[in-house]
Formats: sequence, C-alpha cells, structure tokens
Amino acid sequence: MSANTAELNYAGKTYRFPIVTGSEGEKGIDISTLRRDTGLVTYDSSFQNTASCRSSITYIDGEQGILRYYGYPIEEIAGRYTFVETAYLLLHGEFPTKEQRAQFSRKLNEYSLLHEDMVHFFDGFPRGAHPMHILSTMINALATFYPNVDLLSLKEDIDTSATRLISIVRTLAAFAYKKSIGEPMVYPRHDLSYCANFLNMMFNSPVKPYKIDADIVDALNLLLVLHADHEQNCSTTAVRVIGSAQVNLYATISAGISALSGPLHGGANQEVMNMLRQIQSRSETVDSVLARAKDKKDPFLLMGFGHRIYKSYDPRARIIREMCAKILDKLHVRDPLLDIARELEEKALKDEYFVDRNLYPNVDFYSGIIYHAIGIPEDMFTVMFTLGRLPGWIAQWREMVQDKNRKIARPRQIYTGPALRHCPEPHR
Ligand code: CMC
Repeated sequence: MSANTAELNYAGKTYRFPIVTGSEGEKGIDISTLRRDTGLVTYDSSFQNTASCRSSITYIDGEQGILRYYGYPIEEIAGRYTFVETAYLLLHGEFPTKEQRAQFSRKLNEYSLLHEDMVHFFDGFPRGAHPMHILSTMINALATFYPNVDLLSLKEDIDTSATRLISIVRTLAAFAYKKSIGEPMVYPRHDLSYCANFLNMMFNSPVKPYKIDADIVDALNLLLVLHADHEQNCSTTAVRVIGSAQVNLYATISAGISALSGPLHGGANQEVMNMLRQIQSRSETVDSVLARAKDKKDPFLLMGFGHRIYKSYDPRARIIREMCAKILDKLHVRDPLLDIARELEEKALKDEYFVDRNLYPNVDFYSGIIYHAIGIPEDMFTVMFTLGRLPGWIAQWREMVQDKNRKIARPRQIYTGPALRHCPEPHR
C-alpha cells in the first residue's frame, strides 16, 4: 500500500482509491469511482468529512486558526486593504494595481443605481419585515431586470454581472433599511467610496445630513474584509449547489442569502446581541447563560461560540476582539456589552465543557458590538455579513462554473423508509 492510495476491504475484495493532495498538504480520498467499482456510497451526514470541490480561493486550517485568501493571511489583509481591494482579490486572484482599482471603483459607481421600477417593490413588503428576507427577494428579482446573466447564453460577461451585484446589493440593503424605518431612500453618490456610500445611503436624511466619519468607514471596511470568504460553509455550499443547476447568478446568490440568514450561520451575530442584552437587563447572568448552554435538555447554545472548522480561536474573532476596544475608543463609545462579552468569553474559555469541545468565540461574537457602535441596527447585522460575503460567493460560483468537469450537484441517500408495499383502495 502506498501513501498515494487508500485501500478498502469489502466483501472479500480490496479496492484502491487515489489520494488527492492540496497545496498545503491536506489529503483526501478520491472516491469518484467508488459506486461504480463497489456498489457502495459513502454516508457523511452534514458533510463533516467531505471535500465537495477543489478550490484555490480560501485556505483554512481550523486546528491552527489560519485563514488566507489566495495565500494571503487575513492578518495581513485586515486593516491594510479596503473591502473593494479585497473583493477584487477574491474575483481575480490578485490585489488590483492602482489602475485596476480605479477602473473597478468606476464600474461599482456605474452600476450602483437600482432600476427605478424596482424601487416600488419595497412598498409591497409589510412594515417590520426582516431585511434579510427583503434582500434575498430583491436580489432574485434582479434577474427579471438584467436577464443577460444566464449561464447558458452568457450574453453578459461574468465580470460585469459580478460588479453590478457587488454594487447594487449595497443600494438594496440601504433601501431595505430606509423602508423599514419609513424614511425616504437616499441614492448612491459617485464621489463616495464603497463603504462611505453605503453609510450615507443608510444614515443621510433630508432633515439631518450625515457626516461621514473616516474611523467608521475604516471599521466597516475591516468587518467586510473579515467576512469576505470562508471556503465551503453552509451558504457558499448553497451557492455552489444551486449554481450547479445552471441557475442564473442572482437566483444563486439569493439562495446563499437565505442560507446565511439562519441563526446557526450568519444570523448568530444578532442572537449574540440579544444574549448580551438579556445579561445586561439582568433577566440572565453570565453564569446562567453558561449553565443553559451546557444543559443538554435546553436547546439554547452560547451564540457566537463554536465552529465546524475552527477547533482553536477563530482568527477573524481574534482580529475583531483586538479592534473592538480600539474602535470604541476612537468613536468615544463606552458600551457595557463589551465588558459582558469579555466576561462571558473569559469564563467560557476556563469552563471544562467548552474546553473539552474546543469551543472558542467565532467571528459573530464581537462583530455585533462594533456594528452597534457604528450605528447599524441589529436586524441589519446579517445583511452586513451578506455585503461582506458576496465577493466570496461570486468567486466560488465563478470557480464552479468555469470548472470543465462540473456537473449538477446531486448527492445520494441511504433510504430508510418502508420497503415495497402496495397502495390500499383510496377512501371515497
Ligand atoms: N454552545 C454550547 N454547546 C455547543 C456550542 C455552543 N455554541 N457549539 C457546539 N456545542 C457543543 C455541541 O452541543 C456538541 O456537544 P456534544 O459533543 O456534547 O454533543 C459539541 O459542542 C460539538 O458541536 P457540534 O454541534 O458537533 O458542532 P457543529 O460543527 O455541528 O456546529 C456551529 C458548529 C457553529 C453550528 C455550533 O457551534 C453553533 O451552533 N454555535 C452557535 C451559533 C453560532 O455562533 N454560529 C456562527 C458560526 S460562525 C459564522 C458563520 O460561519 O456563520
């Protein structure tokens, strides 16, 4: 037996399968011929042991807490590169030159305006509708206004569609917020950077002009950069699976947004704030929250803790934790929720339950505190995650559609229902 093959002994026969090796040395068994050769399938509920694709975009080592985009460590990107530059990196594999960045920014401006007929759609949503639901619906509706993005015809090149989407999602997100608070929508401005433009659309009003603060713009850039990609997580897998059916890009991204909205995924940042507030209002204590999280009879989880891949500190959470105090200081914000979060983290990291299970704070644990400090309302937190994750989804989708060996994603199952039986006479 060689290190390049794995053997399977089954029903008196030995089968050999090649080992595929990634550029960082991680190894997987290539079982593409398994069913053909043995009649067997693999059973891997929730894909905990399955590599669903080969990808050159993002590398994570969950044991060591490493995250890299195209080989660049997240610690070297965050705080130094803007979100627009990071989005460009994810879409093209390299950071932009000065000229490329200027051209990308020009295009982002060019596509920032929403088709005016779509603005009326917002009137159809009830007051109080969650902005994530509005956003996924509106993104899906884009396909009716820009129908040239069908994969089969590819009349519009992928770059144009990707740029339009990254630009317009920001307008849609801000419009959804303005609608939810009953204020007039603020249109995008060509003289503002990506993040400044978003903040202006969110907070400017005819009666109270919004003053753009460079520190807030920097904080937003940092948060979006940290969320920009995270390899094959739930929403990215949704994007790849839906996209594999040759669905148009907008419908595909809409599916990713729906997946992200779940409380176990992107929705956790909002849940963290609810949890911290409960402690602040004294309806819970740090100890009672920890006790409930450990109680297997209670469905409650310590929100913002744990990760499928990271079995050590989430590197994004480490950066956000470090930046949190600095940003609050810069903005002259004193938020008692930060003290509660720190106490909760400190106690959890010493608690046998969390230590034994390698449960550490994830990206959602501290991000809400910064969003809160820069004025983003809680039901927009997951929308912010969406703005950040969009370039990653598009990059992963593009990698999938450009793979010459791509096929529609279609797992198998182990059927556990009744054996063959015959229909009774219908009740008439
Ligand atoms: N609080 C209490 N116990 C937990 C938690 C938690 N937050 N997370 C995991 N556990 C326990 C879990 O009950 C299990 O215990 P046992 O071995 O006794 O059955 C053990 O730890 C292993 O957990 P798991 O359920 O096998 O872990 P998973 O990989 O299936 O789930 C997770 C990962 C992120 C969904 C989960 O940790 C969780 O629900 N965390 C809270 C929600 C959250 O913060 N989500 C944001 C994730 S990061 C941003 C993103 O990518 O969306």
